[in-house]
Amino acid sequence: MAFEFDVITLFPDMFDAITKHGVTGRAKENEFYGLYTWNPRDFTENVYRTVDDRPYGGGPGMVMLADPLEKAVTAAKLRQTASGVSEMKVIYLSPQGRLLDHELVKELGQLSGLVLISGRYEGVDDRLIKRQVDEEVSIGEYVLSGGELPAMVLIDSMVRQMPGVLGDPESANQDSFVNGLLDFPHYTRPKVYQGDIVPEVLMSGDPVRINRWRLQQALGRTWLRRPDLLALRIKRGMTAEENKLLEEFKKAYKANQNKMNQGKE
Ligand SMILES: C[S@@+](CC[C@H](N)C(=O)[O-])C[C@H]1O[C@@H](n2cnc3c(N)ncnc32)[C@H](O)[C@@H]1O
Repeated sequence: MAFEFDVITLFPDMFDAITKHGVTGRAKENEFYGLYTWNPRDFTENVYRTVDDRPYGGGPGMVMLADPLEKAVTAAKLRQTASGVSEMKVIYLSPQGRLLDHELVKELGQLSGLVLISGRYEGVDDRLIKRQVDEEVSIGEYVLSGGELPAMVLIDSMVRQMPGVLGDPESANQDSFVNGLLDFPHYTRPKVYQGDIVPEVLMSGDPVRINRWRLQQALGRTWLRRPDLLALRIKRGMTAEENKLLEEFKKAYKANQNKMNQGKE
């Protein structure tokens, strides 16, 4: 059964960006997932189709009304159940939520459906969150104008993990974070670009050497760029081969640094 996303949004057309393009577009066409949008304006009862109002207590901006959102969430949940979704969560995309990372992507992928609420303005009436939301998810420590981009970020990150979505299953496995490391560097034609040549090992045709080099680069890059991630990986346990590759990388890197520093003197 396909994973079902129901998105509550004032701007449903924005979701064409993922349903009509690239990997996520093809995955939708091939029914790896379903995506249905609900506009809170369709659940209003006044002629102006108002979905927001001024905040109690004063201050700038507007707040999204609870009632149209609650009705949209109820309709979305009903559609999920009718589509056969057995395990579902309602998520409010919010800068105040749990930070989205690979762990959370995997966790949410265990469910069979999600209802995603995209906020606008100053956010949504807090009572709606209390009544309907299971979890708040943030895509980073900055504030965007709406929850649509965060919802799309979440959907894209989940869809590429769905078995069969990427032509080669190895693509998803080698992505950064999947095995607790950053991805290794990639090269394509030409062999020499602006005087910079592709590492010799990648042209050797020897898969053992190539895999070893790639693992070493992934370990080394993680050590250089994300020591926090490497510390976690070490805690989880590294093989003797991984430790050896990392030590070799560190030694070569430090030797190179020394050489460069001497060149400057
Ligand atoms: C302008 S923001 C409101 C921010 C809110 N006043 C606050 O500071 O918590 C409007 C909407 O954008 C979405 N949003 C903004 N930044 C986000 C982020 N980093 N992660 C997830 N959603 C975000 C939320 O849905 C939010 O309701």
